[in-house]
Amino acid sequence: MPLLDLRRQYQSIRDDVLAAIARVCDSQSFILGPEVEALEREISAFTGAAAATGCASGTEALWLALVAAGVKPGDFVITTAFSFFASASAIVRAGATPILMDVDPGTLNLDHALVERRLRERKTEKISAILPVHLYGQCADMDAFARIVEQYAREFPLALVEDAAQAIGAEWGGRPAGSLGTAAAFSFYPTKNLSAYGDAGIVTTMHPEMAEHMRRLRNHGSPRRYYHDELGWNGRMDAIQAAVLRVKLRHIARWNESRRHHAAAYDRLFADAGLTAKEGNAPVRLLARAPEARHVFHQYVIRAQRRDGLRKFLADRKIGAEIYYPLPLHLQPVFARLGLKTGDLPVAEQAAQEVLALPMFPELTEAEIRWVVESIAEFYS
Ligand SMILES: Cc1ncc(COP(=O)(O)O)c(C=O)c1O
Repeated sequence: MPLLDLRRQYQSIRDDVLAAIARVCDSQSFILGPEVEALEREISAFTGAAAATGCASGTEALWLALVAAGVKPGDFVITTAFSFFASASAIVRAGATPILMDVDPGTLNLDHALVERRLRERKTEKISAILPVHLYGQCADMDAFARIVEQYAREFPLALVEDAAQAIGAEWGGRPAGSLGTAAAFSFYPTKNLSAYGDAGIVTTMHPEMAEHMRRLRNHGSPRRYYHDELGWNGRMDAIQAAVLRVKLRHIARWNESRRHHAAAYDRLFADAGLTAKEGNAPVRLLARAPEARHVFHQYVIRAQRRDGLRKFLADRKIGAEIYYPLPLHLQPVFARLGLKTGDLPVAEQAAQEVLALPMFPELTEAEIRWVVESIAEFYS
């Protein structure tokens, strides 16, 4: 059983997807245009944002969001050390320096108390944004980050940019990801909850003028053809991707609900098997679920004793399991220049040794979930 089986989903929407692709081929209009504009309107409505800007990938979306939110070369941006590489590399691409920080031991999302302390103790550096990541589909504590931004607003402006790449449809305090900060970046990479048939991404924002700025930035900083006011790149979205995404967007609420249902089944079966018992040294620990969060389980992740042995045991049974992420960002060779070393961010480092993502996709069956949990129980017996 793979970690993710996209073929099952494709079978259920095949006719609609092929019709949407045919519509684009018939139009012979392949870049931006009406399909992308329609998707932008539909994603704005879905996330409760004022506007959305379609682009080439989630990585591109992060760069657009940071630049439009006012991050300038020479600035510093706070983010989590426990994320995909792009959360930090997009900061560098904006000309800024990432300040990589540790995570909450329960949720593994950026620890707001540490961020607050770092801002209080800042010296001369200009910190211009905080970039929390909604890891695995659970929003970071956006109330706490909004309070921090508010607290420092009189001294210096701080943008709050959501890395919502894994969190389409997630909520915090009843408000959707994508409407919780200055701007939010989503990825439609094929493994994501809402996924394209190639690379694509989108940025949502509550500020229409920022969306306009991002529309220029994604098209070489060009307000009109062959005139360039500032430096942008080719970060445009393909019409075929937008057309596919519009078909899938009609199903995403139901698909996310199925993921939540499967997560509850995993939780229950782990408890029934005695693997997550609270007392003593349980072999499997679940991540904390914040009561304010509506989790969309992009990944269902456990913390496992003897994690690498378990992963091999599952692989021998053809059960897919992945490690997101095996090496925190502050220990990546490319970020050695930031000056952090092993031991500096202990929660992220420990998590990297223990996390294991188990099969999770809407079309998963209860029998398959049972088989995964029974196999894990057998490994520890
Ligand atoms: C947290 C996070 N940020 C950013 C990205 C980058 O998105 P993309 O692969 O679409 O460029 C991803 C996904 O790969 C991600 O998981």
